[in-house]
Amino acid sequence: MQYTKFSFPLNVYAHALCLEEGHFHYLHYGFNLQQGIHQAQQNSTDFVMTKLPPVPADILEVGIGVGTTGSQLDNAGYNYTGVVPDPVQIAYCQDKKLHLIENRFELMPQEVQYDVILFQESAQYIPTHTLLQKANALLKPNGQILILDEVTTELIEKLEQLANQFGFDILAQQDFTEAAAPSLGYLIEIIYKHRRALLQELQISNLQLSKLLYQLEIRNQGYQDKTFSYMFFQLSKQP
Ligand SMILES: C[S@@+](CC[C@H](N)C(=O)[O-])C[C@H]1O[C@@H](n2cnc3c(N)ncnc32)[C@H](O)[C@@H]1O
Repeated sequence: MQYTKFSFPLNVYAHALCLEEGHFHYLHYGFNLQQGIHQAQQNSTDFVMTKLPPVPADILEVGIGVGTTGSQLDNAGYNYTGVVPDPVQIAYCQDKKLHLIENRFELMPQEVQYDVILFQESAQYIPTHTLLQKANALLKPNGQILILDEVTTELIEKLEQLANQFGFDILAQQDFTEAAAPSLGYLIEIIYKHRRALLQELQISNLQLSKLLYQLEIRNQGYQDKTFSYMFFQLSKQP
């Protein structure tokens, strides 16, 4: 299965990375871009791995991307499950032999519970109150949510109140804006650079790509004027 068939705009991110770098392993920002995008993206996942409980633990990853984090968790000895609504990502990861569920996180059945639910740049697609409510239902007692994502400054302020409302304590929060924001500049740059090939090879319209670039530029501006931040949150389910 071709990653070029991923849902828009993930197909753009994946193909831009491939055209620029020759290959790609993740669909998230990286930390410390000066080390190159591949290492920077791995730095981000390495950080998340340090926040996991020891093996064996049941981990649910929301938004599997190309299954790189899933494979690392599986190889490390975790009981890994990934959930994603995009059947193309599931087909793309077929050779990795991971336990994958095709669904939106919000709609997952609730008969299985997990120790950790990981959102690495997937929390932004789910309304925060829905995310917390569903995570509460899917976590074992004392289970944890790990989120690494871009958020509005307004949400950071509201999160403590929301977390409590839905039965969570915030154990840790860390601002990675400075380390992660240059990745967005890089992404915008490579989309502009490979614009012609992206339009031809992904069969997307000029208007679609222009709108995406506009949204990314706004986000980039948000990082400059501090209306957006790239944050890590660790939340623990209250007993
Ligand atoms: C920016 S990508 C990040 C992928 C991967 N976590 C990584 O770090 O490379 C966002 C991911 O979230 C997934 N996603 C979006 N909405 C979702 C939802 N409602 N439930 C589960 N996954 C979702 C996308 O399909 C994609 O896999």
